[in-house]
Amino acid sequence: MKIDGEHIQSIWFEPESDEVCIIDQTLLPHSLEIISLQSLEETCHAISAMQVRGAPLIGVTAAYGIYLALRDDPNSLNAAVSALAETRPTAVNLQWALQRMQENLNGLDFSDLPGKALETAQLLEKEDIAVCEAIGEHGLGILQALWNEKNESQDALNLLTHCNAGALATVDWGTALSVVYKAHAAGIPLHVWVDETRPRNQGAALSCWELTQQKIPNTLIVDNAGGHLMQTGKVDLCLVGSDRTTLGGDVYNKIGTYLKALAAHHNNIPFYAALPVSSIDFSIVDGLSSIPIEERDAIEVSHISGITEAGNIESVQLAPDGTAISNLGFDVTPAQFITGIITEKGVFEANEASLQQLLD
Ligand code: MRU
Repeated sequence: MKIDGEHIQSIWFEPESDEVCIIDQTLLPHSLEIISLQSLEETCHAISAMQVRGAPLIGVTAAYGIYLALRDDPNSLNAAVSALAETRPTAVNLQWALQRMQENLNGLDFSDLPGKALETAQLLEKEDIAVCEAIGEHGLGILQALWNEKNESQDALNLLTHCNAGALATVDWGTALSVVYKAHAAGIPLHVWVDETRPRNQGAALSCWELTQQKIPNTLIVDNAGGHLMQTGKVDLCLVGSDRTTLGGDVYNKIGTYLKALAAHHNNIPFYAALPVSSIDFSIVDGLSSIPIEERDAIEVSHISGITEAGNIESVQLAPDGTAISNLGFDVTPAQFITGIITEKGVFEANEASLQQLLD
């Protein structure tokens, strides 16, 4: 991703200082601060406090967390895996990355563990970049076909996205927004409606910032505006990411995604989820069965943070003292409302027969 014209990843390793660097996403868009992770504890905090977030980025961060833990104590693999696995429950990439680390570390001497852990984490980082770029390339065909249909009657293709499934949610490129970036680079005129995505406002704070940095026209809307925009012909296609997609094609994503998919279905608007194969949970077919939905702190709903005129980032209270609050982080969009699943291996139908090909 380009920030002020300079290329930057959401996470990287600095060999000279032996530290893992991340963008502190809790401060965006007001302040771009790079922080260094030096320990397992700092890594767990970065994930649970959402300094890093987005399913693929959580996975790569956890992989580096294993390295930092083993660098401090080569005998701490199991404890580190358990601690990291508990940081956020819904994004399956976390478990996937921890499993990849364990597979690569199994049976090694203690003295070889830190080196191999670093090597594997760096491999996952590189793979994520390639995978996300490939997602964009596969999705480009969909946008190109739609634009070929619409270009006589309108100036740009109007997309709607929810949450942030951009470069900031991955190492680079993003998932849903990777498709946008590839289409933009291919010369397709685009405009993106960005849901603000309460309560953490990933749309307002991250997607708008990221899209504007890549010079892609975008408009921030409140979470409930999408239905009206779809009804009045202002959305050509919806494009979201996913934290976990079942073998049956049910898509877990940021809370509110389901309502957008319902509105899209009612208005015959294509609704795509873009995700790496590592976000598919092949062990589960039915998404409404047993996947844990993260419930986060009530303060994310009762309060809102932003920048004051004096330039300070502050949090203010919205809801009355003592209000009962539910803060579920994700919902499930049933496969029947998903037009297609864009992966690094191609575009698949949201059903078991189609996704099974990825296993085969
Ligand atoms: O709570 P977050 O910000 O980690 O949630 C992120 C999302 O819901 C994204 O849309 C999802 O991880 C896909 S990102 C590539």
